[in-house]
Amino acid sequence: MTTHVFVATDGSETANKAVDMAADVAAKFGVPLTIGHVLQYGRASEELARMADVEHLVEHVTRKAGFDFANVPDTMLGLFEETRPGNDSVRVITLIGEETLARAADRAKAREAERVTTVSSEGDAADAILDMAADAGADIVVVGHRGLGRLKTALLGSVAHKVVQQAACTVVSVR
Ligand SMILES: Nc1ncnc2c1ncn2[C@@H]1O[C@H](COP(=O)(O)OP(=O)(O)OP(=O)(O)O)[C@@H](O)[C@H]1O
Ligand SMILES: [Mg+2]
Repeated sequence: MTTHVFVATDGSETANKAVDMAADVAAKFGVPLTIGHVLQYGRASEELARMADVEHLVEHVTRKAGFDFANVPDTMLGLFEETRPGNDSVRVITLIGEETLARAADRAKAREAERVTTVSSEGDAADAILDMAADAGADIVVVGHRGLGRLKTALLGSVAHKVVQQAACTVVSVR
């Protein structure tokens, strides 16, 4: 029986598909949905440049952070070039995470999932996903089969792979 659905998103197109699928399952069974994101502090902006709808995201984050740039950057790379390492980049990563979760929650609600909660964490992505899912009491975990990473040699991304291997409950990896 499915009583609580958990979905992990890194803001990629594939993760968006995972969110849609998880929302449909939650809506169909009338059960709560928790959406989780693992903050990737210290991660290259190159991966973040592959997030869905990145231009709007950059604009939103620049505005929210209250940065006083002469020109608002229009790419993720530009945003990281303008921000100083340290507090500024921590703030950017935190805001990107918040916005990723807010967008995913909107997607899920648009698909009639009713009880939607968002959570974030940090550290090893797969470990954090499994911990957040367990804390939520989820009995099904949904991930995308790929994410923002560039290496596409393996069939499954490393985070999705580790989640499938280590989860105590059912895992769905969405294509
Ligand atoms: N930081 C994260 N926070 C939440 N979910 C994540 C995170 N990273 C990955 N995921 C989940 O795992 C899925 C697969 O991503 P994964 O990172 O395994 O693939 P990849 O980025 O293509 O490859 P790799 O990271 O191994 O280079 C994503 O669609 C998402 O559901
Ligand atoms: Mg990845």
